[in-house]
Amino acid sequence: MIELNVKAGPADQQRDDAVVIALLEGRELTDSGKALQLATGKVLPNFLNKFDSTGSFGGTRTLYDVEGTLTQRVMLLGVGDEKKLTLHKLRVLAAKAARKLEKSGAQDVSLYLSELAVGEASLAEKVQAIAEGVELGLYRFDKYKHKKDDKHRGLRSITIMISSQEELNDAELAVARARAVSAGTNFARDLSNEPGNVCTPEFLGDQAAALSHEKLNVTVMGKAAIEEIGFYNLLAVNQGSAKEPRFIILDYKGGNEGDAPVALVGKGLTFDAGGISIKPGAQMDEMKFDMCGSAVVLGIFKTITEMNLPINVLGLIPSTENLLGSAAYKPGDVLVGYKKDISIEIQNTDAEGRIILSDALAYAAEQKPAEIIDFATLTGACVVALGSHATGMLGTGEKIKSDLKVSGDHTYDRVWELPMHEEYQEQIKSDIADIRNIGGRDGGTITAACFLSRFVGDVPWAHLDIAGTAWNMKGNDISAKGGTGAGVRLIVDYLSRKAS
Ligand code: BES
Ligand code: ZN
Ligand code: ZN
Repeated sequence: MIELNVKAGPADQQRDDAVVIALLEGRELTDSGKALQLATGKVLPNFLNKFDSTGSFGGTRTLYDVEGTLTQRVMLLGVGDEKKLTLHKLRVLAAKAARKLEKSGAQDVSLYLSELAVGEASLAEKVQAIAEGVELGLYRFDKYKHKKDDKHRGLRSITIMISSQEELNDAELAVARARAVSAGTNFARDLSNEPGNVCTPEFLGDQAAALSHEKLNVTVMGKAAIEEIGFYNLLAVNQGSAKEPRFIILDYKGGNEGDAPVALVGKGLTFDAGGISIKPGAQMDEMKFDMCGSAVVLGIFKTITEMNLPINVLGLIPSTENLLGSAAYKPGDVLVGYKKDISIEIQNTDAEGRIILSDALAYAAEQKPAEIIDFATLTGACVVALGSHATGMLGTGEKIKSDLKVSGDHTYDRVWELPMHEEYQEQIKSDIADIRNIGGRDGGTITAACFLSRFVGDVPWAHLDIAGTAWNMKGNDISAKGGTGAGVRLIVDYLSRKAS
């Protein structure tokens, strides 16, 4: 874990191994950069004159042992056009800088980025984005590699430089928030990246239990308890697996006693082979990520506990594998789960997420929460519709959805709404049961949400299909290849706004 500090002071006086200065488009410098330029006599001006890059976004140039400074390196970080900067671009810049610095061999570094003007953003918002960029950008999952990547050479501390001592307190609080959000996100990434033979339902239960805290009560139900309470749909999907299922309940009481909680439900499918309706072999390994919904929920609880957020939150995670054992549930089976007045005809055992979620959502609704938000890697159709840059959002809770849109835009953990007009419900009618578990190829993400909608009663509800955003085999600006932790920043921002 990297140490993050905040400090005020001029760049030429820093004794760190590296000082990072922003270079604006057109070879312009920020105030700190200009002061450093003066202190260096001719070195920096001469360099800038010859500089072949004009400060385009994300590019870096490093100068060593610059006269007039106390640091080993001055790294110029291109930030592009200041007018076009956003908080997310700042997050990305910090991530890029942190990764470059890590490879440079520097141990202690200072970043002069918070003085950049980013629209109307406050210093605290900018510092939070920078700190998140550092923490998220440096994340990697290499616990199973015997030979660690030796490009990483012991970066120890990053100091986020601010312009005035007076804002130190605000900036430190912002760093603490960023730390909590990143810890939750990186925890979700860790859980997501674990292979399926390690990350089993039992493992998820243990990981959840380990989050227990004064204000967070965690209950992990095993098979017997699941049978007793009547989560029969979860049990049906579990029939094909030799591993026991789990049902995890997280009860966080940060708010007033008696305040209805926000319920968060996460799909915890630790490996989805499709069941009897088996998936094709190509990329089937990626179906270890089918528990990312549960990873997001656990990540959120980690963060809100750390932040001591004043709000009540209930977390529910149904967890199993979807395999093909001889007792596996089959196409044609009819199920009745926790919600006794809905029978389900199975037409494809690969549409199992909605089956296990049906029990969790019905149970959630019964607890009378203020609202329900679920997270699931639910449909390949959502990847087709939205790709990897926005989470699919559907549901009945209009206010939840509009607030999620605001939080998504603010955190850049974005959502995009798909419609759920009532006509779509026709597609999940069954000939022999109340509903069937697939709605045909057309509008696959929508009909999956229609299925879920039958189990939430009249509780305002939003469904987040994270099939395209939860993991990324190419990696992105702030995430290494693999689990991204998408949804954690989004919901922590959403809950924070609600709590204040
Ligand atoms: N876990 C998958 C959805 C998925 C597929 C997520 C690919 C990310 C990438 C889900 O359980 C599933 O298999 N859904 C089926 C539903 C279909 C049978 C109606 C799908 O999307 O193909
Ligand atoms: Zn499936
Ligand atoms: Zn699945």
